[in-house]
Amino acid sequence: MDIEIVLNKNIDDSYKIYLGDLDPLRFETKVAIVTNKTIAPIHLAALRSKISAPEISEIIIDDGEEYKNLQTIEKILDRLCDLRLDRRSVLIAFGGGVIGDMTGFCAAIYQRGISFVQIPTTLLAMVDASVGGKTGVNNSYGKNLIGAFYQPLSVHIDPAWLKTLPKREFLSGIAEIIKMAATLDKGFFEWLEKVDLNDDKTLKEAIVRSIRLKARIVMQDEKESGARAALNYGHTFAHAIEKESGYGVILHGESVAMGMVMANRLALSLGLIKDEEALRIKQAIKKFGLNPYYKTPNPELFYESFFLDKKTKNNNITFVLPRNIGDYIFVSDAPKKLVLEAIEKGGE
Ligand SMILES: NC(=O)c1ccc[n+]([C@@H]2O[C@H](COP(=O)([O-])OP(=O)(O)OC[C@H]3O[C@@H](n4cnc5c(N)ncnc54)[C@H](O)[C@@H]3O)[C@@H](O)[C@H]2O)c1
Ligand SMILES: [Zn+2]
Repeated sequence: MDIEIVLNKNIDDSYKIYLGDLDPLRFETKVAIVTNKTIAPIHLAALRSKISAPEISEIIIDDGEEYKNLQTIEKILDRLCDLRLDRRSVLIAFGGGVIGDMTGFCAAIYQRGISFVQIPTTLLAMVDASVGGKTGVNNSYGKNLIGAFYQPLSVHIDPAWLKTLPKREFLSGIAEIIKMAATLDKGFFEWLEKVDLNDDKTLKEAIVRSIRLKARIVMQDEKESGARAALNYGHTFAHAIEKESGYGVILHGESVAMGMVMANRLALSLGLIKDEEALRIKQAIKKFGLNPYYKTPNPELFYESFFLDKKTKNNNITFVLPRNIGDYIFVSDAPKKLVLEAIEKGGE
């Protein structure tokens, strides 16, 4: 006898992204803020003054991509148990993408799922990581190989937090902004070519435009079965760069900048983009002060590491390549020779 389990799911995971000065947040339940040792002394008091809840706890973890692992997840979960957080409690991710990804993952698995709120404090997390519900950690096999799709309750983006962000981290976020503009919105890319993102008003506009793009893609394809993969432009190369150089040495966004230029080289050899367009993207990367060059000590090994990337299906690497500026195409049959060439060129 066969028994069927019918789950007529009708779950609404919609949420709002609030932009501007952080409004007071009121909770009727226990709240735990997850942040790190760098952000806590600078900003935690200010955040706490905006939150009211019957009980507010702080979970302060070590800072760094190297702590984005299951050991840290276990530590956070232990604290949640210690604090007796229940199914109605709320976690608040207060930090960059590392904090957001880990807090979201803990929220997804603690007592089979509790709510969490994103309050990103890096540019990269504001325009990319905090929106879309991808959560997770790295392990020795690669980045973000363990995780869950789990949407936040809300996202609160206040660019004022960025005042204390180190310059390299700021530029890292700009790399993700260029990534979205170059593949999704030509007008936005052309605007970026002209503006100065050190100006607060302009920066805010860039954040809004990026989030709109990210939101559009996530709404089309929450679980990355199609269009959402467009956001991985430059990322196959970038993940290899990050892994090869040791996590945290070259920042995620910095390697995305290098990865986009490698991807462009491949797009050029496949005839998908014109010389001048590839040059414009490289120039935009340079204009903001990002480095487009990366030389691998071992191109073969670099290439091999693609096959550990979770985007590799059936040993086939799918690259997201620009098709002119403002559009993209997925390519899964790029000849190894051309890919190796792009790797070896390293942005030259
Ligand atoms: N979930 C997603 O969709 C998604 C998308 C892109 C990236 N990511 C992940 O995000 C991570 C990268 O995020 P990130 O670039 O924000 O790095 P991060 O979280 O490591 O933060 C960068 C550094 O800035 C510090 N910092 C944060 N806010 C600060 C502030 N306001 N003032 C001073 N210092 C501050 C942090 O302590 C850290 O040292 C990667 O792990 C990546 O895999 C996830
Ligand atoms: Zn990224």
